[in-house]
Amino acid sequence: MIDMHCHILPGIDDGAKTEEDSMDLLRAEKEQGIDKIVFTPHFNPERISLDKFLTRRENSYERLKNTKGFSELDIETKLGAEVFFSMKILEMDISKLCFENTNYILIELPTTHRPYGVTHTVKALIERGYTPILAHVERYGYFTQDPTQLYDIVMLGCVAQINAAAVTNGQSIKGVSALKYISWELAHIICSDAHSMDTRRPNTKAAYECVNKKLGENYVDWLKTNAVNIYRDQIFDIPVVHKPKKFLGRWK
Ligand SMILES: [Fe+2]
Repeated sequence: MIDMHCHILPGIDDGAKTEEDSMDLLRAEKEQGIDKIVFTPHFNPERISLDKFLTRRENSYERLKNTKGFSELDIETKLGAEVFFSMKILEMDISKLCFENTNYILIELPTTHRPYGVTHTVKALIERGYTPILAHVERYGYFTQDPTQLYDIVMLGCVAQINAAAVTNGQSIKGVSALKYISWELAHIICSDAHSMDTRRPNTKAAYECVNKKLGENYVDWLKTNAVNIYRDQIFDIPVVHKPKKFLGRWK
């Protein structure tokens, strides 16, 4: 199994502070059955230059790789980033922010409002051959209250990611739930977004169990296959067939 959204690299963002924190998180990932990880530290193009971010990320990765016990964990790892949405990314060398050896890029949107230029930016990225992965889509009220907005963006050629905790908690922001998105095939992968062992710990196993119980084994297989395809940089056909419609006040 693969986790493609987590904050496990030490001392680079609000995730793991030290190598020991990272190792605790990696051991917890392993217990979840995860054997491939993309490290996705936060990158905000408005706050730090790309070069500075890449240097910090590389240093952090080296520190972790040189930590005693890291190689014995036998977890395959790649570098990536969780890029905070900014139209500035169109002026950057996006390839350096993609999951290593792929054209997939994880993008976080603001939770408070739908940002200006999001459709334009997503379209421009896709035209350049990249596939944006929208991080934790259950968090954005403008999507959960009107999921046709997410549908329209996904149909441009985006992947939508759900946090494992949102699946297990039945969490949503005043609107459709994470499970509903998955049942519509409007969310395509589950990741941990793990930050620490205290607050947001690796938890994908429980989320897959929840999907299995509520939606069935086929959905679990579909979610896992999508993750493998992304990790291997396979072409990912967005299989959306259902456009949400409001009926008697509920999204169906
Ligand atoms: Fe994150």
